[in-house]
Amino acid sequence: MEHKNILAAIISPLCSWYRKNQRILPWRENKDPYRIWVSEIMLQQTRVEAAIPYYHRFLEALPTVEALAQAPLEQLMKLWEGLGYYSRVKNMQKAAVTVVEQYGGRFPADIKLLEKLPGIGDYTAGAIGSIAFGLPTPAVDGNVLRVAARLCNDDADIMLPQTKRRVKADLETAYPEAVDVSDLTQGLMELGALICVPGVPKCDLCPLTAFCEARKAGREQLLPVREVKKEKKTEKRTVFMLCCGDKVAAVKRPEKGVLAGMWEFPAVEGHITGGKAEQILTSWGMKGKGEAFVDNRHVFTHLIWEMKSYLVMADTMSDRFSWFSFEELQNSVAIPTAMKPFLTAMLKKVEEEHKQK
Ligand code: ADE
Repeated sequence: MEHKNILAAIISPLCSWYRKNQRILPWRENKDPYRIWVSEIMLQQTRVEAAIPYYHRFLEALPTVEALAQAPLEQLMKLWEGLGYYSRVKNMQKAAVTVVEQYGGRFPADIKLLEKLPGIGDYTAGAIGSIAFGLPTPAVDGNVLRVAARLCNDDADIMLPQTKRRVKADLETAYPEAVDVSDLTQGLMELGALICVPGVPKCDLCPLTAFCEARKAGREQLLPVREVKKEKKTEKRTVFMLCCGDKVAAVKRPEKGVLAGMWEFPAVEGHITGGKAEQILTSWGMKGKGEAFVDNRHVFTHLIWEMKSYLVMADTMSDRFSWFSFEELQNSVAIPTAMKPFLTAMLKKVEEEHKQK
């Protein structure tokens, strides 16, 4: 059977299954495009269970697109802290400003206009279009590509853009046949998340086994085909936890590149010895003995940071850095996840030293 006919045939059983089996999730309470948009952006790099507390907090602080458009950057960073990929939330604010200024605070019910908003690609536009506005626009992410590859017993590499374009085009012919396109979009996502999972799918619970060509051929565990990912670049870094009195040094990262514009603890390239660390401190106009401190490894999309650190009790607060209290570092300065273990270890050490006194 042609792929698009298979995808058209599953609509009705999939939507019935979704209506009975969907998880109760906070972004499914209503069809407010703002709420659906926030959920889709959060869910791009974060699992559902992990995203839920962030979602509640974000919507409590910024319940409307107007509130998001006006929020101070530091508040946004704080609300996003731990989710990573901060450019997502910065783009969200740009899009919110556009929605307020150009569309009177209402998201346009038009796929082309949605795609023009910063940070909204064809996936997110398709999701908002179909879930919030009932437009016949599919949203094709990794889950949906996996479900489609198995249903159609399709060996195409799902990492290739042309595979995604083809699956999207096939779904585009099927969508107008759906009674409720919101259920169809979310049904595809939900089936991928709960049943048609990576590795060993739960075919005995699947409502679509009668349609599934991979299942019929016994190939469901071989699909989807994914090209081996390129190796990530590894960078070694040494982080300085510089303390002076009850303050700690931090520095803002450049506005471009990894963790653009975020605060971090001062760091240098490479893994350096204690002697070299003292020389660097001197070049920063400070004296102090560095004690080797905790290590941390952080994996970004295309990059890995392997970090060693030194804890230093410095004699002065060099003005090349900003100095924050522990309270500020915990509650008002957005510290990226890559740097969190250093802060946590330092707070723990300070607490232990207090107890010993
Ligand atoms: N993943 C991406 N979008 C989702 C949604 N709306 N519900 C559950 N999982 C998702």
